[in-house]
Amino acid sequence: MERPDAGSCRRPFQVIQPQQRLDTLGAYPFERLKFLLTGITPPSGLPHIDAGAGEPRLPLPPFVGETLNGNLSGFSRYPTTKGADVLRHAVSDWLTQRYGLSGIDADTQVLSANGTREALFAVAHALVDPDAAEKPYVLMPNPMYQIYLGGAVLAGGIPYFMPCTEQTGFAPELASVPDEVWRRTAFIYVCSPSNPTGWIAEDAWYRDLFALADRFDFNIVSDECYSEIYMHQPPTGLLQVAEHLGRKGFSRCLVMNSLSKRSALPGMRSGFIAGDAALIARFAKLRTYTGPATPIPLQHVAAAAWSDEAHVQRHLDVYRQSLSAFFEAYEDGEPPAGSFFVWLPVADGEAFAKAAYAQQAITVLPGAYLSADDVQGSNPGKGFIRAALVDGPEKAAELARRIKQVRI
Ligand SMILES: Cc1ncc(COP(=O)(O)O)c(C=O)c1O
Repeated sequence: MERPDAGSCRRPFQVIQPQQRLDTLGAYPFERLKFLLTGITPPSGLPHIDAGAGEPRLPLPPFVGETLNGNLSGFSRYPTTKGADVLRHAVSDWLTQRYGLSGIDADTQVLSANGTREALFAVAHALVDPDAAEKPYVLMPNPMYQIYLGGAVLAGGIPYFMPCTEQTGFAPELASVPDEVWRRTAFIYVCSPSNPTGWIAEDAWYRDLFALADRFDFNIVSDECYSEIYMHQPPTGLLQVAEHLGRKGFSRCLVMNSLSKRSALPGMRSGFIAGDAALIARFAKLRTYTGPATPIPLQHVAAAAWSDEAHVQRHLDVYRQSLSAFFEAYEDGEPPAGSFFVWLPVADGEAFAKAAYAQQAITVLPGAYLSADDVQGSNPGKGFIRAALVDGPEKAAELARRIKQVRI
């Protein structure tokens, strides 16, 4: 197996020629992980624990089969790009209720998405002008969900990484970005609760961001797919702050969310985009060409899932128990504010991941695979591993006990 490329665009301030964009992206983190663990045989007596991927493993919510069966005829029709009325109304009702909005228009301010992944990628193509005289920046947290990087680079933007470290409390520090960068910013990716750090943005952080967005004329793309997974208070959302600030029509905002984490339905590929009607219209136009549309029967299941909170509460209980069980057994640190990930400091993430597999039959992800070099040339994820607690509290505790035994 050939060593997967770490990527050469993982440095700040880099203009990339159009024909080289794809080549400068590294292999996706899980390809790199597969290569890293190739040739290592885990101890045969220990059952494998896969904490590498953030894939929820919870029972199917009870309404899924019944709703699907009742709407099978929808497979005979092409789904519209915009999404079925029933889904967009369910989303608008959910957003209104969850964030205490006075309302959000299902017709002009909500779009269906095939999960957030494709939408987070595609949005860069609607918001970046690759031919601008001064190449536009796309800001993103570092470490980050790698799709932000792929979207920014392939749309012709320049990724600008905002280090999220222990020193910053894992927040992307707005004050650290020079005015010169803000002036050339097309948009910023926000991720709260954050994968992988579990950081949750506070209202004041969003307020400062809005002030900068108005001053420097850029848009905000908020990835909120972990919004329903948190230890204490439900996280604030971008639209909620926008409404509190009296921003008419959620100007400059695009929020993305999905059923993958909240409803443990990652295989259904259903999510939404919501916010500023002008941005939604522009994005919708792009999407009529790229064509991502969730099959109609699945949109009906999605509408049912956004209308039911009982299963979400059950899932939340499991994640909270898993996070508590992990840290009780680990006897160090505390659960993140949000998400189901633990982001653990180690001497070297790659060396640790190899040792963890070889010694304890556990798969964890080296933090560097989710990070890029910062302005000083150091990688903020290098000294971390990410473990996903997706197998319930017992396995989470077992994972913590085994991680404690790993020696590098
Ligand atoms: C931060 C973040 N955003 C988006 C996604 C994409 O999820 P989906 O496309 O299933 O909504 C993930 C998946 O792991 C993620 O961790």
